Amino acid sequence: MYMKKNLKYYLFAALGLALYSCASTIPYSDAAHQAWADKQWHNIRLDQGRQLYATNCSGCHSLHAPAKHTQEEWLKLFDEMAGKAHMAPADSVSVLAYLVTYSRDNGLN
Ligand code: HEC
Repeated sequence: MYMKKNLKYYLFAALGLALYSCASTIPYSDAAHQAWADKQWHNIRLDQGRQLYATNCSGCHSLHAPAKHTQEEWLKLFDEMAGKAHMAPADSVSVLAYLVTYSRDNGLN
């Protein structure tokens, strides 16, 4: 009985940690980044870009943190990957905008 309870706590802790690390590497949109994106593009909603990134790009591998790559790297990588993901052009634009906005070298992270 005692052991079982411990295992349960351990599982909850592990789940919490997994959720936490996921949330911190795939950031939710915020006002500062949205304002930055508004200067580069029209009608880009970063919250939608994030959502589309999660749904279209997690089928073959886990999601890569946007901050792992520079803007230039994302432009190249995205070109290859959007073809693999068979994304509609409008959705591709949102996802790429999201990745570029949260990339390592845009000066906001
Ligand atoms: C059909 C499967 C598939 C889908 C869907 C897919 N990928 Fe990939 N991805 C791969 C494979 C396979 C690799 C590793 C080999 C390679 O680089 O081609 C990879 C590698 C990557 C890498 C690492 C490349 C590097 O050199 O470090 C990134 C970043 C990436 N994918 C982003 C994305 C994004 C963004 C999307 C959504 C638009 C996506 N992937 C959708 C199959 C996929």
